[in-house]
Amino acid sequence: MRASAPVASAASLAGHVAVVSGGARGIGAAIALALAGDGAAVAVLDALDAGETVVAAAALGARSRGWMVDVGDEAACLDAAAAAEAALGPISILVCAAGVMPRGAVDSGLAQWRAVLRVNLDGARHLVAACYPGMEARGDGRILLVSSVAARQGGLLAGAEYSASKGALLAFGRHVARNGAARNVRCNILSPGVIETAMNADLPKPDPAVLPARRLGAPGDVAGPALFLCSDQASYITGVDLPVNGGQLFYP
Ligand SMILES: NC(=O)c1ccc[n+]([C@@H]2O[C@H](COP(=O)([O-])OP(=O)(O)OC[C@H]3O[C@@H](n4cnc5c(N)ncnc54)[C@H](O)[C@@H]3O)[C@@H](O)[C@H]2O)c1
Repeated sequence: MRASAPVASAASLAGHVAVVSGGARGIGAAIALALAGDGAAVAVLDALDAGETVVAAAALGARSRGWMVDVGDEAACLDAAAAAEAALGPISILVCAAGVMPRGAVDSGLAQWRAVLRVNLDGARHLVAACYPGMEARGDGRILLVSSVAARQGGLLAGAEYSASKGALLAFGRHVARNGAARNVRCNILSPGVIETAMNADLPKPDPAVLPARRLGAPGDVAGPALFLCSDQASYITGVDLPVNGGQLFYP
C-alpha cells in the first residue's frame, strides 16, 4: 500500500517536456510559464508567434521552443510534436489550450460550427493522437484539456458550437483518462469561468459585483490548478473536470 506518497517540491517537473497549445498568449501562456517555472522544458504551439512566451520561459531557466501550428491540421500537429521531441526530448505533458470563441447564436451556420469544432475539439484530438502513444509506451503522461463552464451551463454570447466543442472535450478527456490509467497516463480537464484575455476583450462581461468572488478571473488563476494537475502531487487524479470559476457555477 502506498501510504504516504512524497509531496512534490519546487522544480518537481525537472526532466519533463511539456507541449502547450495556444501558449502564445492568455491562459495557455500562463500555463506554459507555470510549467517552465517548475522545471519543465516547454514547446509552445500556436497559430500566432509564441516568441514572447518562449523568451519568458527561458528567463525562468527553462528550455523552450515555439512552433507556429494550426492545431486543426492533423499533419501539422504530428510534425510539431515530432519536432518538439527532437528538440527537447520525450513529451510527458500535454496541455491543449488553443481555442476560438466567435460570437454566435443557437445556429450560427454550418461553416462556423465546423470551424470552431475543428480548432477546439479536433485540435485536442490531433495533439493527443500525436503524444499519447509515447506517453503510454513510457508509462508517464499528464494531459490537460482546457474546456469551459460553457460545457455545462451553455454559453450566451458565443455560438452553440463553442459549448458543444467544450462539452465534447469533457467526454473525450474522460475516455483518455480511463484508457490511460493503467499505463500511468492521466488526463484531466480544466473548466475556467470568465477569465480576462484577448479572447473576450471585445465582449461584454459580467459585473464583478454580481460574481461570488467579486472579480473576473485572470490567466494566473488558471495556471496554478493546471500546474497541480500536471504534477506528481496529482498522481492519483485522472478524469477530473476541475472548475476554475471563483464560484460562478457549482456542479458535481
Ligand atoms: N478567457 C475565458 O474566459 C475562457 C473561459 C473558459 C475557457 N477558455 C478557454 O481557454 C483557452 C485559452 O483561451 P484564452 O482565453 O487564453 O484566449 P486567447 O485567445 O488569448 O488564447 C487562445 C490561443 O489559441 C490560439 N489559437 C487559436 N486558434 C488556433 C489554431 N487553429 N491553432 C493554434 N493555435 C490557435 C490563439 O492564437 C491564442 O494564442 C481556450 O481554449 C478557451 O476556449 C477561456
